[in-house]
Amino acid sequence: MTKEAVVVTGANGFLGAHVVLSLLAAGYMVHATVRSRSSASGLLRRFESEVSEGSLKVFEVPDLADREAVRGACEGAQYVLHTASPVPSRDMADAVATILDPTLGAIRTIFDVASSLHMRRVVLTTSLSSHLPTPGGSDGTATTTTTTIDETSWNDMDETRLRTLRKPFEVYMGSKTVVERLAWSLSRSTGVGMTTVAPVYIAGPTVCGSPLRSSNLELVRFLRDPARSRIPGWVDVRDVADAHLLALQREQAAGRRLLMCAHPTPASDSTGGLEIDTSLVHDVLGLEYREWKVTVAEFEQQVKAFREQQQQQEGEGRDEVKG
Ligand SMILES: NC(=O)c1ccc[n+]([C@@H]2O[C@H](COP(=O)([O-])OP(=O)(O)OC[C@H]3O[C@@H](n4cnc5c(N)ncnc54)[C@H](OP(=O)(O)O)[C@@H]3O)[C@@H](O)[C@H]2O)c1
Repeated sequence: MTKEAVVVTGANGFLGAHVVLSLLAAGYMVHATVRSRSSASGLLRRFESEVSEGSLKVFEVPDLADREAVRGACEGAQYVLHTASPVPSRDMADAVATILDPTLGAIRTIFDVASSLHMRRVVLTTSLSSHLPTPGGSDGTATTTTTTIDETSWNDMDETRLRTLRKPFEVYMGSKTVVERLAWSLSRSTGVGMTTVAPVYIAGPTVCGSPLRSSNLELVRFLRDPARSRIPGWVDVRDVADAHLLALQREQAAGRRLLMCAHPTPASDSTGGLEIDTSLVHDVLGLEYREWKVTVAEFEQQVKAFREQQQQQEGEGRDEVKG
């Protein structure tokens, strides 16, 4: 029987590479999109044999709004797992142009191509921020009686207001809501099914490259001083990757918004003290979270090994210079 093929966008990312790993382990063919060959070098090294045997194909797609390039990656595949997203940095000059515009362009193109190729489902990586109600409403007049954030909760950010924001992190957070709303409307208009996976902060070992990347940098700060942290919760990157896989496999996952939080922190003031209901992960996907202490132990072990390897390489470099 021919294996089903799945497109993974942002396949070289912290989460994307784990999604690739989960899919390959489950026997799927993977069409991985990356923005450049150079950013895919770690991925290509890690999955060298899967690339040579053809179960992993890597497609260079510098712009996910480019219809022809996206179509090239999607041909022959049945699902798109869309994990790619620009991430904010302090020195970003125009966050709306760097984060929001490409993200909106990408989602329009993905649904357009998925619909024209009659693909079965899009799984979109969103975030807790899409579900997080603005305390008192965006204009400060509404009062919320909500005590729990769940599948039905929405942040009230809209595109017009988002375009007035300047701080990269705020634009990033707001973009997750605006893009998700557009994606649901495209899913309805095109008839291509969708599931969203909305994690809190993601942590854990990496598939390739440095473990000190993405939200793991925040994890290091959190582990140093949990009391000072404003992170509302954590979830293991491997559980988030498995949720993407299960979201395409389980029929009952179609049309659902799946919140993920394995380790709520006491310092959850950034949710206004609201409880995060992640029961759908168990009820719809049948997924059990890894224990948080296991995530931390395996992450710390990888960091230690990575630092030792770096020191050894630096030592060898010095010896070569002396010699
Ligand atoms: N990490 C978290 O705590 C967390 C929490 C909630 C949700 N999420 C979501 O999870 C997803 C993966 O995040 P991550 O932590 O794995 O981040 P990451 O390691 O920074 O990976 C981001 C991926 O997106 C790609 N990308 C960035 N800008 C792009 C653009 N303009 N067009 C196309 N691709 C672009 C990156 O490619 P390059 O390598 O070429 O830049 C990379 O492959 C994102 O959707 C993020 O919003 C993450």
